[in-house]
Amino acid sequence: MSKRFYITTAIYYVNGEPHLGHAYEMIITDVIARVRRSLGEEVFFLTGLDEHGQKVQQTAVAAGKTPREYCDEMSATWKSFARALNLTNDDFIRTSEPRHKEVVQAILAKLHRENRFYRAEYKGFYSARQETFLTDKDRLADGTFDPFYGEVVELHEDNYWFALKDHQQWLIDYIEANPEFIQPMQRRNEVLGLLKSKTLEDLCITRPTARLAWGIPLPFDESFVTYVWFDALVNYLTLPLALGDIDAVNAIHPTVARDLKEKQADFKLWPADIHVIGKDILKFHAVYWPIMLKVIGLPLPKQVLAHGWWQKDGQRMSKSTGNVIDPVAVINEWGVDAFRYYVVRELDIGPDGNWTDAGFAARYKAELADGIGNLVNRSLSMLKRYRDGVVTARSDGLAAEVTTAVDGIRADLAENRLQAALVGISNLVTRTNQYIDQTAPFKLAKDPAQASRLDEVLYTVVECCRILAVLLWPFIPSTAEKIYTQLGLAGPPNQMTGAAWGGLNSGHQIGAPAPLFPRRELIGK
Ligand code: MSP
Repeated sequence: MSKRFYITTAIYYVNGEPHLGHAYEMIITDVIARVRRSLGEEVFFLTGLDEHGQKVQQTAVAAGKTPREYCDEMSATWKSFARALNLTNDDFIRTSEPRHKEVVQAILAKLHRENRFYRAEYKGFYSARQETFLTDKDRLADGTFDPFYGEVVELHEDNYWFALKDHQQWLIDYIEANPEFIQPMQRRNEVLGLLKSKTLEDLCITRPTARLAWGIPLPFDESFVTYVWFDALVNYLTLPLALGDIDAVNAIHPTVARDLKEKQADFKLWPADIHVIGKDILKFHAVYWPIMLKVIGLPLPKQVLAHGWWQKDGQRMSKSTGNVIDPVAVINEWGVDAFRYYVVRELDIGPDGNWTDAGFAARYKAELADGIGNLVNRSLSMLKRYRDGVVTARSDGLAAEVTTAVDGIRADLAENRLQAALVGISNLVTRTNQYIDQTAPFKLAKDPAQASRLDEVLYTVVECCRILAVLLWPFIPSTAEKIYTQLGLAGPPNQMTGAAWGGLNSGHQIGAPAPLFPRRELIGK
């Protein structure tokens, strides 16, 4: 088995309610995973939950539950959220699982043996909401901390630390030599700016058990648990280790690796190909994580892909003001594909985005109902009406144009330009609808002398629908599958090789056309 294409989302704080921002990250990751599978690669897609930390402990206690009971309940919500989004994740990691604890402890033990940690007192401030230390430098002009940090308390405590500055120049050189490592470019420049402008402070990797019991105990000092970010980042290695990726195992457990080698020599997952994350956690993934991997002795992920943040109606989403988008409510009303389509089409990977109900409804009507939906429905209905639903002899009406468009879309997909790929697909829909208007099959059908011209037109438009299903599958898989069913083809249309012109055979009988996107009035009527 060759190396799998390994792609991950961030892992989500278990105590949060899943919202639009989380859904977006999960969906773009799923689209990339599906694109790769469609291109013939073996893929491993991981998502999951970040369950340890003070905030989770506090929330559980306030609800009269143990942290474990609380996490078990919340993880059910998150897992069903992932299903509602139609994700194709291959595993779902929870940091409270034994397989994860084992890996975190093995890494800590190794780094401790190699004297990578030192002990010192911490004096400063702490935000439990963001699970992070703050200093006076983080104060706003008026002396307070940003409300983003929630309650900030002063702390004096003993902890273990990990020195980062010795690796700073190495990291700068690495990022400069590997332009693909942090994407988009603007984020890469941001990280380089940060690394070049100030010396990295050491990373505190523990919390005293007296303050926080809900965490992974240090294997060499039970009076501490592991700092939640150190614990969380390691999730990306848990699966390669748990599944027996030999190089990953070897870096951490050379003895286990020797036994494994005899059993399964060729399962390969690490390095991750893409970590998809939001811009707010870039420093953790593009600074701390690479340095951790360097000292562990493993190669760095090939790419950290940072997306922007969603707002609603131009404002930060916040439960207290009530302006949150609940993806499940939108999906129940409009369907999962309408939701998937909108978020990818609306927001490119990089900048920030803004959700408006009117914008959603407008795209639904123009691009889904009147665009793809109408094209497929009128094309298949015409084939039914004029040729009893039997595909006519191959014709190359739009073959050249479609082939060029498909090449462009594939090039965008190969570079994870998902929004651009959807624009390309939309253009193809518009072009095919325009071709129908120009060739006017309804007029051709009235003139028996135009029968072979009508055949050409019908083949062309129905073949365009088939190719569109293949192109759309990574984005809106249920719709793509419905198109295939209506075409009478065995699905799913999940192989990009199917986007080549001429796949429909003469004499093939299509199924029954049915509306893909029922027309809707404005959301929130
Ligand atoms: N648990 C940490 C990540 C650990 S990864 C080793 C965390 N969790 S989170 O639940 O707060 O955020 C998870 C992801 O959701 C992050 O990538 C974050 O950027 C993303 N989003 C949270 N709110 C968002 C928006 N409003 N818009 C887009 N994405 C946002 O951080």
